Amino acid sequence: MNKLTVSDVAVKGKKVLVRVDFNVPLDQTGAITDDSRIQAALPTIEYLIDQKAKVILCSHLGRPGGKVVEKLRMGVVGERLSRLLGKSVQVARESIGPEVEQTVEKLCGGDVLLLENLRFHPEEETNDATFAQALARLAEVYVNDAFAAAHRSHASIIGVTRYLPAVAGRLLEKEITNLGGILENPAHPFVALLGGAKVSDKVGMLENIMDKMDCVLIGGGMAAIFLKAKSYETGQSLVEAGSLATAFDLMEKAEASGVRLLLPVDVVVADETGAEAKEVETVPVEKVPSYLKIVDIGPQTFENFQKELRKSRTVFWNGPMGIYEVPQFAQGTKSMAGLLAGLEATTIIGGGSTAEVVIEMGLADKMSFVSTGGGASLKFLGGRPLPGIEVLLNKEAGAS
Ligand code: 3PG
Ligand code: MG
Repeated sequence: MNKLTVSDVAVKGKKVLVRVDFNVPLDQTGAITDDSRIQAALPTIEYLIDQKAKVILCSHLGRPGGKVVEKLRMGVVGERLSRLLGKSVQVARESIGPEVEQTVEKLCGGDVLLLENLRFHPEEETNDATFAQALARLAEVYVNDAFAAAHRSHASIIGVTRYLPAVAGRLLEKEITNLGGILENPAHPFVALLGGAKVSDKVGMLENIMDKMDCVLIGGGMAAIFLKAKSYETGQSLVEAGSLATAFDLMEKAEASGVRLLLPVDVVVADETGAEAKEVETVPVEKVPSYLKIVDIGPQTFENFQKELRKSRTVFWNGPMGIYEVPQFAQGTKSMAGLLAGLEATTIIGGGSTAEVVIEMGLADKMSFVSTGGGASLKFLGGRPLPGIEVLLNKEAGAS
């Protein structure tokens, strides 16, 4: 990586503003259902505590739309962080302003302060210069450890770097190294396992790394689009507008690059996509009834995909194989997660719902790497530089 990291700059005793992505899922009661994003940021935070830095953490939580939303306050995140660190974490009721500045002035080396949800201010998402300056005023050094938000051109990601020396945190570095490995020289055979509802969010990635892949396996809602493009009946399955042309185009590109593209040969179909579905059956793809929807891959498809995956040396997985939130349509996704966990290959899991499945099944540590970024990991693999990484100091620029 050609960016300076937190290890390259002097942080001892300094006030360090760290942009983390603590955008964790919450249940109805407001409790955290998965704290892996908090855990993933611990190495940077612990390093800074060790260095006796005054650690000022900032993050967004959800999409409050520029106003205070009580259930999206950072308190619950602060409590969890405190438990994980085994030390108390102060939680501010604001992210900028005189009160926060006073609190910062009272910090001692090794203390940790978590600022309030950045997105309570509309200026965060508009990358407002005054807001960025107000954040920057709190610290002497800026660390970006929020890979999952590095594709957003927001004040705490971009604006702030105009006023402070800006370097990468440990998690950001780890994400770039692991995902970058796929872009550079993946061990072959390299197989991509793709699912989820949309093709549009994966086009950039596919176009960028198609020539590095040996085989692409397509399941989930995406499969219906490819099947439809090949003139199969896909019944009531959702087909994103404009996606058929994209699917054609990708199939042509795969062929031109000598990449094998495998689609399901059998699927689970149902009358409803929720748990209330009454009519559920497994059919060959030639026999999808016009009044049903595709909700999962079938067992023969799993067998076919398994053969390819067992031969592979690198696997990138993004997107569930079906509607995994509904237990009766989760079989394909769960079987894939179980299979990948047992492979010798390097297994890289895209963030978002794919990471969610793997974590929920307790298989995260059986994978080579689970990204914390959903949209960010796809954009990164799309080859376009992420704005939040671009703005950090380059190695050759020398430590400040
Ligand atoms: C995410 O969960 O995708 C990141 O935290 C970014 O959040 P956003 O998609 O609301 O910008
Ligand atoms: Mg997102």
